[in-house]
Amino acid sequence: MGGPNSPLKSGDSPRLLQIGGAPRSACVTERARRARVGPRPNVFVTRRLPGGALERLGERVDAKVWPGEGAPSPEELRREARRSQGLLCLLTDRIDSPLLDRCRDLRVISTCSVGVDHIDLAAASARGIPVGYTPGVLVETTADLAFGLLLAASRRLVEADRFVREGGWTPDRSWDPGLLLGRDLWGATLGVVGLGAIGQAVARRGQGFGMRVLGWTPSRRPVPGVEPVEFAALLEAADFVSLHVALAPETRNLIDARALARMRPGAVLVNAARGGLVDEEALADALRGGRLAAAGLDVFAHEPLDRDSPLLRAPNLVLTPHIGSASVATRARMADLAVDNLLAGLERRPLPHCANAAALG
Ligand code: GLV
Repeated sequence: MGGPNSPLKSGDSPRLLQIGGAPRSACVTERARRARVGPRPNVFVTRRLPGGALERLGERVDAKVWPGEGAPSPEELRREARRSQGLLCLLTDRIDSPLLDRCRDLRVISTCSVGVDHIDLAAASARGIPVGYTPGVLVETTADLAFGLLLAASRRLVEADRFVREGGWTPDRSWDPGLLLGRDLWGATLGVVGLGAIGQAVARRGQGFGMRVLGWTPSRRPVPGVEPVEFAALLEAADFVSLHVALAPETRNLIDARALARMRPGAVLVNAARGGLVDEEALADALRGGRLAAAGLDVFAHEPLDRDSPLLRAPNLVLTPHIGSASVATRARMADLAVDNLLAGLERRPLPHCANAAALG
């Protein structure tokens, strides 16, 4: 607990931490200030965040930061959110209509994520609550991770590492021409599903690696350097398929048994978007049956991944724990943007990035 960027010091007990309240010795001054400018808004922050954003927030509001290693339970979230004018949450916090019903004072929700599928946007809009999110700042970092999974899966990097560590690299196999053969990216066809900012960044990486790049996006928006194709045609033509659409009712299980059967035999699938896009049982079957050569997944239908998930027993699968945006600089930028969104909402200004701006009018 209490890493270098944490607002907590090691040894702090796992209870709520007030980072913006007045110190006791400053009570009189604080009372005078409140009488002059009114009370500072209460904000609940559901997790400690990297970088200095929370210190900045603490200068402007009375913030409580949930200090546990994990997310607050739904009950804890409900209890704290209902006392708050601002809520800074993560994608692990479900913000739904019953929760919002209890949060009469809530002026703004700000999620430190680009995805907003954990928030009932319609329910927030119906209550006039703007929802901030963090697009843009995590694009290149997430594209790096998706491309890293593509390379790791196609060139069997995790398997190779395990082979060396576990003593498989014996003198008789010192340079074995048939050892750990993978698949080339160069000259292969990459199919990018979803051509938003992250999909486009993955497409650019594919072009840099000498790949032919096909793309399908629900809006059919053309993207320079990407050949537009229909979804089924992409699955049939691509050697590598990388998913970059948002999770919505119409994209849930987009890659199901039928879609997997459409993919080229020996293709590689990567998902660094949302777990719900892929039918995990069907993917495990496709890997076990050798229909797909490999896959790389950063996201899962249930996170953390259930210990009895069939994915854990599937071959040729690289798994990472939802770390698409996990670089030091990017996580700090996300926290900064989440705080900017929150402060704007508390002050009733337009949010720099508002997920439900259109619905709020
Ligand atoms: C990560 O998945 C995010 O939505 O930011």
